[in-house]
Amino acid sequence: MSSNTLKVGDVDLANPEIFEKAVPHEYFALLRKEAPITWQPQPDEENGGFWNITRYADIEEIEKNVEVFTSRCDISPMPVPQSTLENTIDHSIIMSDPPRHTFLRQAIMKAFTPKAIKKLEETIQTCAVDAMNAIIDKGECDLHDMAAYTPIEVVAEILGVPAHDRQKLFDWANAMFGSSDPELSDPQRNMMGAFQMFSYARRLGMARRANPSDDVFSMLSAAEEDGEQLSDIDLGATFIVLATAGNETTRTQFLQGALLLIEHPEVAAQLREDPSLMNNAVEEMLRLTTPAMCFARRATRDHVVNGQLIQAGEKVLMWYVSGNRDEAVFDDPNTFNIFRKNANKHLSFGATGAIHRCLGANLARTELRAMLQQLVTRLPDVQLGGKVDRLRSNFTNGIKRMPVKFSKAEPTADASHVTMYASGYEAALKQGANAAEPEVVLQASEGHGIELVHLAKVVLELGVPIIIPEGPRGTRLMVDVTKASWDGARIKAVGAPCPAGDWATVSADGTLMIDVRATIETHDGATIFISYEGRSDYSKGGTAPIIITPKFETADPRYMWLNKVQAVGRGHAEGMSKLIYDVYEVR
Ligand code: HEM
Repeated sequence: MSSNTLKVGDVDLANPEIFEKAVPHEYFALLRKEAPITWQPQPDEENGGFWNITRYADIEEIEKNVEVFTSRCDISPMPVPQSTLENTIDHSIIMSDPPRHTFLRQAIMKAFTPKAIKKLEETIQTCAVDAMNAIIDKGECDLHDMAAYTPIEVVAEILGVPAHDRQKLFDWANAMFGSSDPELSDPQRNMMGAFQMFSYARRLGMARRANPSDDVFSMLSAAEEDGEQLSDIDLGATFIVLATAGNETTRTQFLQGALLLIEHPEVAAQLREDPSLMNNAVEEMLRLTTPAMCFARRATRDHVVNGQLIQAGEKVLMWYVSGNRDEAVFDDPNTFNIFRKNANKHLSFGATGAIHRCLGANLARTELRAMLQQLVTRLPDVQLGGKVDRLRSNFTNGIKRMPVKFSKAEPTADASHVTMYASGYEAALKQGANAAEPEVVLQASEGHGIELVHLAKVVLELGVPIIIPEGPRGTRLMVDVTKASWDGARIKAVGAPCPAGDWATVSADGTLMIDVRATIETHDGATIFISYEGRSDYSKGGTAPIIITPKFETADPRYMWLNKVQAVGRGHAEGMSKLIYDVYEVR
């Protein structure tokens, strides 16, 4: 659509598909000019939509007014299930308000000691050189994979994640960020990614508390603020923020910056000749491309912004990507100008002086300078080698694939130790599809053409149930599974900490209905989510068989075959404290 015919209301900014083609800059310019605050309907969403905030000054005002505009809400355009919100608000720094936010922010800042920062700067430099050495003799590559390396290594260093778990960390983060792009994820995988990362973080936090190391996460696990330590849940939520905030954004900015330099080889040449220009060039790249395109807040009471009444409870989406091209602040805003005097006034890390302004801004800048310096000096003739694929997202200005070609050169050092993180789920799925199914040991077969193939003997040890009497369907029991083991030829696993949140309802006639959500961890490190419903007849005192129909979900390529398995289990209770099942695959 040309800018002459474009009208306010023409572009659905809630639709990630629009952004997959390109950021609708012309439309944002129109909104800034004619309708700086417009209501964006989202008919399928609980709150019916959000306000688009497009001017720099309005974004700044909202971001700084933490009395009226709360961060205890869904902070991105993506719908977030209420249960996730309830579990995250006040634990995740980015979804908290003062004084809670002040407590979390100070605890995190304390963990970034000068020694830790120095070590991270060394890691950044080494990683940027290593990543370049890994591709430079190939003559072509997907720059996305190279871009992923340094940010994930830096985040892993901060969090103390061992090398063999880093691909998992990368996949979970991608599942969370790519949830509006069907190629990378979906809302279910987004939840699973968050869940898996959370349970991993809790275990890591516990391990670091027992055995501190010198990473930032160990420091955070031990940090005290007013005599108070971060809880397990706070630690898990902080882990997720650092792992996602510090990873996808920096990768995106490097790729967007590289694209600008490929489109403007004369600028790459200037940076090659005078490295001191790199600082401002990075600021200008951040301004022009805006990796995190927006963040949201909710009004806690009625309030007028720039003449527009925002009612209590309504969501406002601060479009940094639009504020960064606001003609009232930046002259000739669509031009890439590395000499721009006020380039660093951009909103890409949030508004200057706002309490949620990016904690990793300086770290991100150091990473970007190091990576871009490698690009301009060592790949002087880099150019696109194919189509650039953008992420389908109205939150992240992401790039999924960016094939490039260049003249081959000799690496400066051996780079065989460098793991190029495969492009998220794409590679994991490929690996999963090719993985051979593990050998089947047939243990049970019952007529009618149906085979029952033994999957595992399951033993669950139960804590004392919390009893909630007289619910609409009978007495409700909340049961804590204190220990879980799955033992079979194809799957051997134990329950992850807090393996299950079980509910059981015993109705007046003695029917026991159970509802289980559990996570188990296999002996070789995969995380599998299991959910099942079951029933039993408790009228005779709890000795009757219990029948269950488990479903499995995992993103681990080695166990993806489980996602397709139909299963039944038959078991019994041993007193009130143990349940034993045999689980079979139905074929
Ligand atoms: C180019 C890279 C990056 C960009 C564009 C970026 C962008 C942002 C933005 C816009 C916010 C503010 C959100 C708001 O106002 O609600 C933010 C917050 C945050 N960022 Fe970054 N970020 C980047 C890299 C990093 C890195 C490398 C880390 C750490 C390893 C990090 C950690 C955080 C944290 C912890 C917060 C929450 C701060 C708070 O709520 O007080 N970010 N980031």
